[in-house]
Amino acid sequence: MNVLATIVVVSATILSAARLARCQADQVDSKYLDPNDYFLAGGDQQDRRRILQDAFNRYTVQQQQQEQQQSRTGFDGIFQQRQQQPQQQQGFQRGGRKFTTDEPEQNFETSGRFTSRSDPRTSPIPTPSIQQGPLTLSNSNIRQLLQQLDVAGSQQCNLNVQAQWDFETNVNEGTQIRALEQQLLYSEFQRKVFSIMTRLNLDNVIDPNLRRQLKFLSMPGPAALPQEQLSRYNRLINDMLAVYNSASVCAFDEPLKCGLRLDPDLNIIMSRSRDWNELQHTWIEWRRRTGQKVRDMFEQLVDVSNQAALLNNVSDASEMWKFPYESPSMRFELEDAWEQIKPLYEQLHAYVRKKLRDLYGPERISREAPLPAHILGNMWGQSWENILDLTIPYPGKNYLDVTPQMIKQGYTPAAMFRVAEEFFISLNMSSMPQSFWANSVVEELPGQPIICQPSAWDFCNRQDYRIKMCTQVNMKDFITVHHEMAHVQYFLNYKKQPKVYRDGANPGFHEALSEAISLSVSTPKHLQTLGLILNSVDDIPHNINYLFGLAMDKLTFLPFSLALDLWRWDIFKGTTHKERYNCHWWDLRERLGGVKPPVLRSETDFDPGSKYHVPANIPYI
Ligand SMILES: *[C@@H]1O[C@H](CO)[C@@H](O)[C@H](O)[C@H]1NC(C)=O
Ligand SMILES: *[C@@H]1O[C@H](CO)[C@@H](O)[C@H](O)[C@H]1NC(C)=O
Ligand SMILES: *[C@@H]1O[C@H](CO)[C@@H](O)[C@H](O)[C@H]1NC(C)=O
Repeated sequence: MNVLATIVVVSATILSAARLARCQADQVDSKYLDPNDYFLAGGDQQDRRRILQDAFNRYTVQQQQQEQQQSRTGFDGIFQQRQQQPQQQQGFQRGGRKFTTDEPEQNFETSGRFTSRSDPRTSPIPTPSIQQGPLTLSNSNIRQLLQQLDVAGSQQCNLNVQAQWDFETNVNEGTQIRALEQQLLYSEFQRKVFSIMTRLNLDNVIDPNLRRQLKFLSMPGPAALPQEQLSRYNRLINDMLAVYNSASVCAFDEPLKCGLRLDPDLNIIMSRSRDWNELQHTWIEWRRRTGQKVRDMFEQLVDVSNQAALLNNVSDASEMWKFPYESPSMRFELEDAWEQIKPLYEQLHAYVRKKLRDLYGPERISREAPLPAHILGNMWGQSWENILDLTIPYPGKNYLDVTPQMIKQGYTPAAMFRVAEEFFISLNMSSMPQSFWANSVVEELPGQPIICQPSAWDFCNRQDYRIKMCTQVNMKDFITVHHEMAHVQYFLNYKKQPKVYRDGANPGFHEALSEAISLSVSTPKHLQTLGLILNSVDDIPHNINYLFGLAMDKLTFLPFSLALDLWRWDIFKGTTHKERYNCHWWDLRERLGGVKPPVLRSETDFDPGSKYHVPANIPYI
């Protein structure tokens, strides 16, 4: 018998027992533990069909449409405000953006359109009837193939984006059906491109640029799945979203007041209530109605995602998600970056803990323990800006809101867009093309139902770029206008690239650029330049308050988003097993962010599933 092996096995067992114990011990804060909550959390065995039926009954038509849209579309052409309600798609955002959406579908099937645009004599693209066996092409033929795919891809992408635009700016059954049809055609096209790619013999392809383009095209994400499995994949996501979107809870201490929804009811409670027990009740109930109920579906989704990964020629879905970063040490780099930022976060954390201890008392907030997740002003503790009233360093030196001044000066949505354009021009960047002004929708119009999520659109034809936004005259939207227009600037700057490259340098880059612009625009100094701040606010109290407010939103979000995707990568990889899904989540939350659950959690819970991005399967990173 191999002694070494025995030692390894035994120590692994001890190690995992120790981890488990540690995990549970950390979660128990028995002083505040309400056993009823725990058992309640076991949950009633509601028939899933009824949940779904309920869900659909409760939706307004528009909500349903929006939801379906959110779960089914996912093409690169569109950038939405991600944090609140990203819409990119079925989980494979990176892939989705880069390849999924970009590649239109139907060219190979509908013979005419594609071939008529390229020279049929030289077209190396096989027709469906001869789609068998390996393909060995010369480098110049591969170049031609890529060119043709570029034309076809741009064209199909354009049709798809157009259909999505028509739907989102004019929500009705007709536009929705067309949008879904186009989306399906699009996946179909992608699968065809993929099947060609898998047959290509790349041995002779040396040019790294060619290889890279081919590689991108051969990683379509979930679209590589056979039709039946792809439907299952989409169904799982839709079903999870149905649970998530229809969840409602009953009010604290008012068991008959039920039907409270996340938006707006629970969000208002989490941000405004300072009642420990009410917050705890709301926190627990939301998780009981969402995460717990999607756990089983999520486990299935992990399996299907990993199958898709194998078809994409990577070992598991975490590799598929990380692929567009083109860095084998992605995880290490992220953790390393967080280690560098962490000292600042730790100071913020300690300061906020002190303020919360003053409010809730030392018996509830220990000087040393992690922060309980339910009192941070947000359902997930991902942003703490809603407890600024409790924590602001210089009360009275109000953090900035220029809304009243904007209204006083007669700002309109159109004026906000013009001011944003001037900002970019002042940086020596382009003005918006004529068609941008002609085609964008910057306001909600009466009688035309629209999906209001602000978004920037690339119509894939190197000409047509638009923003869709139900702009209100206020500071938040003013910043958002700049954010969206920064996406358009990026579109304009890469428009000469081939289709496969017309995207952010990596999945985070589009947002990073836009956020950098947002941060620059929202400084007191810039707002003063615009004449929106009249009195001087360039003193220490105002600046500290402003920076503190930013930190409470942006800095606190980092350990949350990092935990969410490290957690998903570990699950996809299989380094975290089903028995530890929830425990591992809290391990990461505590290690990275110093946050713990308010009550004992167990593996009947599934707390990550109470965050939109998990049922929607949208990556954060
Ligand atoms: C909205 O969609 C309907 C039906 O699909 C169509 O008839 C109508 O012209 C569209 N409205 C606009 C303003 O595009
Ligand atoms: C699949 O991946 C392996 C190694 O990661 C690589 O050697 C091989 O060329 C890839 N196959 C295709 C078709 O890309
Ligand atoms: C402005 O941009 C143009 C190209 O778009 C460039 O040639 C020029 O040098 C830039 N000017 C400055 C001051 O950066």
